[in-house]
Amino acid sequence: MSELFASDINSGNIKTVGLATGSTPLDFYKYVREAQPDCKAITTVNLDEYVGLAADHDQSYSYFMHEHLFNDVAFAKHFLPDGLAKDSAAECARYDEVLAENPIDWQLLGIGGNGHIGFNEPGASFEGTTQRVQLTEETLAANARFFDSIEEVPTEAYSMGIGSILNSKKIVLLAFGEEKAAAIKAMIEGPMTNEVPATALQNHPNVTVFLDEAAASLLT
Ligand code: F6R
Repeated sequence: MSELFASDINSGNIKTVGLATGSTPLDFYKYVREAQPDCKAITTVNLDEYVGLAADHDQSYSYFMHEHLFNDVAFAKHFLPDGLAKDSAAECARYDEVLAENPIDWQLLGIGGNGHIGFNEPGASFEGTTQRVQLTEETLAANARFFDSIEEVPTEAYSMGIGSILNSKKIVLLAFGEEKAAAIKAMIEGPMTNEVPATALQNHPNVTVFLDEAAASLLT
């Protein structure tokens, strides 16, 4: 995984990388911090941000990215949705413009236990652009581990849509742990359905998936 990133970055063909937060990419970001590939010409675009959290809130995704990557590796520019935007529609339109101006060459994804990608929860359209979304109970419960209590977990987020994710030239999805096994099985072996958002990736021509044994354990 790390070698793949290094060789893709060194190829010089990547101008924009799409980035994810959460537990899954932590080792990957550690590797990038240690390896220090030359990212000075690369722009980053994140998948999502919680509604209602300021960029400097310690649970915001902006804060996460600075702590795990941006403070240690120099990039050209960073884009994340603004969790405090006053006008949601305008914020979604702004982010879609960011994506139009910075087409993603290399998109990193994790996956939710319910098959979400970004914060596109079950039922999300495969053509979706940036949206303000309601997080499911399952996602709130999963993310509560980062907060003092589940009540503190923001219930909404801005998320890049599935359509925008599918526009990325290359997608690299990581999944670790048995709590991801059912979603991975559905993503790879199940029928394409909005009920498992990650099945949208079945139609993408360039997806690489990295799994540990537990996440792969239900595959036939
Ligand atoms: C985060 C994101 C989410 C996570 C997913 C898995 O930016 O877009 O889709 O990738 O919720 O989260 P972890 O890695 O914490 O299990």
